[in-house]
Amino acid sequence: MRMVDLIEKKRDGHQLTTTEINFIIEGYTKGTIPDYQISAWLMAIYFQGMTEQERADLTMAMVASGDQIDLSAIEGIKVDKHSTGGVGDTTTLVLGPLVAAVGVPVAKMSGRGLGHTGGTIDKLEAAEGFHVEITNEQFIELVNKNKIAVIGQSGNLTPADKKLYALRDVTGTVNSIPLIASSIMSKKIAAGADAIVLDVKTGAGAFMKTLEDSRDLARAMVNIGNHVGRKTMAVISDMSQPLGFAIGNALEVKEAIDTLKGEGPEDLTELCLVLGSHMVYAANQAFSLEEARQKLIEVIENGEALEKFRVFIEAQGGDGSIVDDPTKLPQSAYQIELVAKEEGYVSEIIADHVGTAAMWLGAGRATKESEIDLAVGLMLNKKIGDKVQVGESLVTVYSNTEEVEQVKEELYKSILLSKEKVDPPVLIHEEIMK
Ligand code: URA
Ligand code: CA
Repeated sequence: MRMVDLIEKKRDGHQLTTTEINFIIEGYTKGTIPDYQISAWLMAIYFQGMTEQERADLTMAMVASGDQIDLSAIEGIKVDKHSTGGVGDTTTLVLGPLVAAVGVPVAKMSGRGLGHTGGTIDKLEAAEGFHVEITNEQFIELVNKNKIAVIGQSGNLTPADKKLYALRDVTGTVNSIPLIASSIMSKKIAAGADAIVLDVKTGAGAFMKTLEDSRDLARAMVNIGNHVGRKTMAVISDMSQPLGFAIGNALEVKEAIDTLKGEGPEDLTELCLVLGSHMVYAANQAFSLEEARQKLIEVIENGEALEKFRVFIEAQGGDGSIVDDPTKLPQSAYQIELVAKEEGYVSEIIADHVGTAAMWLGAGRATKESEIDLAVGLMLNKKIGDKVQVGESLVTVYSNTEEVEQVKEELYKSILLSKEKVDPPVLIHEEIMK
């Protein structure tokens, strides 16, 4: 087989076979096919698209390029959740203990990464002593015992995706639905999930800005998952403003505790109930989505969800007493109010910019080498649709320096007010099941 023939085949709009796609991905991973040929092939995909079979083949070829996590020693159906990323997205912290309390095994592999705030592991480290440096055997034992554990990411998961993603980044081929969908799905499948619940964000703060694009991506991922035998469903949820109130590591842990107690923000709570219902249902722990939701509400009301969070933190060396006394979480030296200069209704909270402001405070990493400050971040005091009077606080800035002028300036530019009444955005746009 010659790579140039396969580039031409795709360029001319023909379907590549499973063997051909395997040849390309194996060759690229090993280094026998050069970047310039893969670049041309990616651009051909960008313009010609891929059939459902090709997408499934590409996904599985990337899965096969590296380690595949074997979770078969864990009892039950392993359901993983994936979010396409937003600002202040605390759902993972809430959903893990919440669905585990209902009996769904949560075997979470998580990372740190770059961004506005830390990853799930960084956030959990706000509980003094919590660590993810456990062996695979300990990990499996903990999930069987407590239904929930988190381990750091294996270094050699989907190396083909890592290489392709880096190349796409510099060849103008990131924004292709088949490539995005197979990239995301390959990582979830390699991590060992039997079933996958996707939270596809839509709106100004999301990767996909329009509902149409979000729907296309969601459908593409659901099709790939089901095609390769992993039960997959997607929820399209709003990211036209940050979810919940907290953006920051310790602040989000506190927000997760509040939500597990039934005292969390309305939008975060509702999204967790919707995603959680799909997870419980996919794990065969309920006969319907309605029954699944009822079970989740029950463990919030009877305290089992919160208790599960404590057990999970303590099992991995963390201070579980933060669930009773969140003041034991890292605290910032200063709390500075951003007050409204005019009156009106909040019409926009540009999530990207709010996230950037949180990163400047030290809540997230700008580069791999950056240190995270777990205590700092932002608490939104107003959301879209809320009425604001002059002098009222829009945001509380949690900082370890008094020098927050740049942060405040960014926030004033990100929170827009209108004289007319504004409706709050719809939270759940669509649920896509096969
Ligand atoms: N996120 C991914 O993991 N892959 C993509 O291609 C795009 C976003
Ligand atoms: Ca939040």
